Amino acid sequence: MTNHISDARWLAPSEPANKRCIDFYKDFDIDSDVVSATLTASALGVYKAELNGKKVGDIALAPGRTSMRYTVMYQTYDITDLLKNKNHIILTVAGGWKSLYPHEILSNPSLPSAEPAVIASIDIEYADGTTQTILTDCTWKMQYSKIVMSDPYDGETYDATFTPPQPVNAEPIMYPRNCLVPQINEPTREKEIIKAVKYLKTPLGEDVIDFGQNMAGFIEFSCSGKKGDVFELECGETLDKNGNFYNDNYRKAKAKVTYISDGKKAKYKTSMSFFGFRYLRLTGWNGQVDIKDFSATAVYSDMERTGYIETDNKDLNQLFHNIIWGQRSNFIDVPTDCPQRDEKLGWTGDAQVFCKCASLNYNTYNFFRKWLMDMRNDQRPQGAIPHVIPNNANWASPSSSWADACCIIPWQLYLIYGNKQILEENFMMMKAWAEYIISKDDEYFNSDKHFGDWLSTDVPDTLYTKGGTSIRFMTMCVSVKTLEIVTKAAEVLKIRGADFREEADNLRRRIVNEFFDKDYHLKEKTQTAFVLAIECSIWPEKNAEFAEELAKLVEKNSNRMTTGFVGTPYLLYALSDNGYTELAYTLLFQKEYPSWLYPLSKGATTMWEHWDGIKEDGSMWSDTMNSFNHYAYGAVGDWIYTRAAGIQYEEQYPGFKHVTISPLPDPRLKYLKASIVTERGLVSSEWKTNGKAITYTIVIPDDIKGIAVLSKKKYDLKPGTNEFTLSL
Ligand code: BGC
Repeated sequence: MTNHISDARWLAPSEPANKRCIDFYKDFDIDSDVVSATLTASALGVYKAELNGKKVGDIALAPGRTSMRYTVMYQTYDITDLLKNKNHIILTVAGGWKSLYPHEILSNPSLPSAEPAVIASIDIEYADGTTQTILTDCTWKMQYSKIVMSDPYDGETYDATFTPPQPVNAEPIMYPRNCLVPQINEPTREKEIIKAVKYLKTPLGEDVIDFGQNMAGFIEFSCSGKKGDVFELECGETLDKNGNFYNDNYRKAKAKVTYISDGKKAKYKTSMSFFGFRYLRLTGWNGQVDIKDFSATAVYSDMERTGYIETDNKDLNQLFHNIIWGQRSNFIDVPTDCPQRDEKLGWTGDAQVFCKCASLNYNTYNFFRKWLMDMRNDQRPQGAIPHVIPNNANWASPSSSWADACCIIPWQLYLIYGNKQILEENFMMMKAWAEYIISKDDEYFNSDKHFGDWLSTDVPDTLYTKGGTSIRFMTMCVSVKTLEIVTKAAEVLKIRGADFREEADNLRRRIVNEFFDKDYHLKEKTQTAFVLAIECSIWPEKNAEFAEELAKLVEKNSNRMTTGFVGTPYLLYALSDNGYTELAYTLLFQKEYPSWLYPLSKGATTMWEHWDGIKEDGSMWSDTMNSFNHYAYGAVGDWIYTRAAGIQYEEQYPGFKHVTISPLPDPRLKYLKASIVTERGLVSSEWKTNGKAITYTIVIPDDIKGIAVLSKKKYDLKPGTNEFTLSL
């Protein structure tokens, strides 16, 4: 049945809601037999629907976060079984992300907060063939909800004692309806439920509970008290070195749930915003804490899980666990940098570096397709891509590697899922970005808006480090890669007039002129410089030399990396693709800071923003920028899938039409298995050694062609299971 949401009116509170949630409701009767009925609803903000006392549907945080100035998604729910003769429907709405400019709001709290609005149609089909449509309009009522405060950063307050004033008629507002589109990506849903595992009375005497897993989602608890008693739950990701509750790293985000009791025993679950947390500090329980009263629900876009990695090394297994939880905590309609502090923003650079790993772990096609729509909407007229999408912070000047997400992500999705649609939809954005780079040239390469090799450790410890590699060099290298991608995308789409090879070659020549010495050696002597020279094919004939210099730098640094956001994702590839596989594994197994495994020694259950978020002595790296749930460095997972396990998809056969399984065993591991549910079925690669021989077990689906490259020898693969035992 078609819905009539575009005939409905937007309803908004008649006076500023001041972060209160509003209930819009309507009573309606039904006196014939219903064959089917749907509710189609959306909001500027966040909404949930309840019909006759029951929650409608299983979607969380609807309508989903988009660049709302341009596009607002709606959801359609089957409500046939919820209807009665007399019906009461409530749409509860909170301001949510609506037109938030977090940095401006947080630095200037007197700015008006976002006002929510809601829109809906109920479409009913009767047994006698007639239909009825109920639309949001001035016959609906509105009143304040008992959720008296809801904010994406500050949390949620429920006042059970609150008696709302008399309801008033809802007032339709003039707001366009042509921004409404049906849900594009998988909706956000409640996924894993995690019970509290431990109650702690901290040295400071505070009541703290531990869920054992850092995550993002909802909080559920029971409490009982006298009328007016206040129960508070504050979020934290880690304890401090003395074992006390710590959340200074949330900065201005209060991340707190408050429940005001009406004297009755209550069970409450948050629903209008999500929290990033592992620990909760409790106030109001006065030591009477039963951990059975607390649970956490991970909430994220309901993508299909596709990728798994397991090894005989418990640290690597934990690293993979942390990568998965980093993704679960940050893929809530928008790929956010982190789910806890006063950001929760769709940072383009972070998404770009993690996109490949993310898309092997889960089927992210619809998720990124939706976000790329937001990116197209937010692209600036001259082609610049803002740092965060949705562009809540209203940034305009682009940064290299961050803005390049607009090309790298569609291309990556095309390679993994083999669907040209993603290139077709985004090609104009990609081309406009390439043209921006070319037209701005030095103005862009020399801009001070680049984040450089963000957070690299090759410069003295400073708060916001852009690293030790020349930003101009990095920007030019990454631009070469981007121009190549746009050219290849144009070829796939058979679009003329978008061949940027000449511009890419010109840039290569300029890089060689400026950044190579008279003997043609790269003058930038940093790990990231050599990694980028290889990754961006600046001078492919010299890759062996770049890799040798890179290897020397790594070894000189006691087998540790110094790379930041830009260099780290490609570091192991640069080594293993050029003859340094053993060193790549040494870096992967490294436990000293900076390394992927160091955070494990401090109990990490998700990826950290900084390699040393918690230092050796237990002190914090900083309070101001120290997220313990930042997925970006989880990008190393794709090296494990595609190099350690060797499941390589090929550019000329996108979507795994053909695979080359070319595993790279290492004597420090006895067993490694990776599997990916591809568009064409399960591909898995496993190797097991007993010290004398190694057995490879490779599975490919029926309609994939593939070869295995084992100890440099090629073998054809047949559909199904293939086993090879070779002596070591
Ligand atoms: C975010 C990053 C982001 C960066 C820009 C930070 O505040 O958390 O992950 O990419 O800013 O450099």
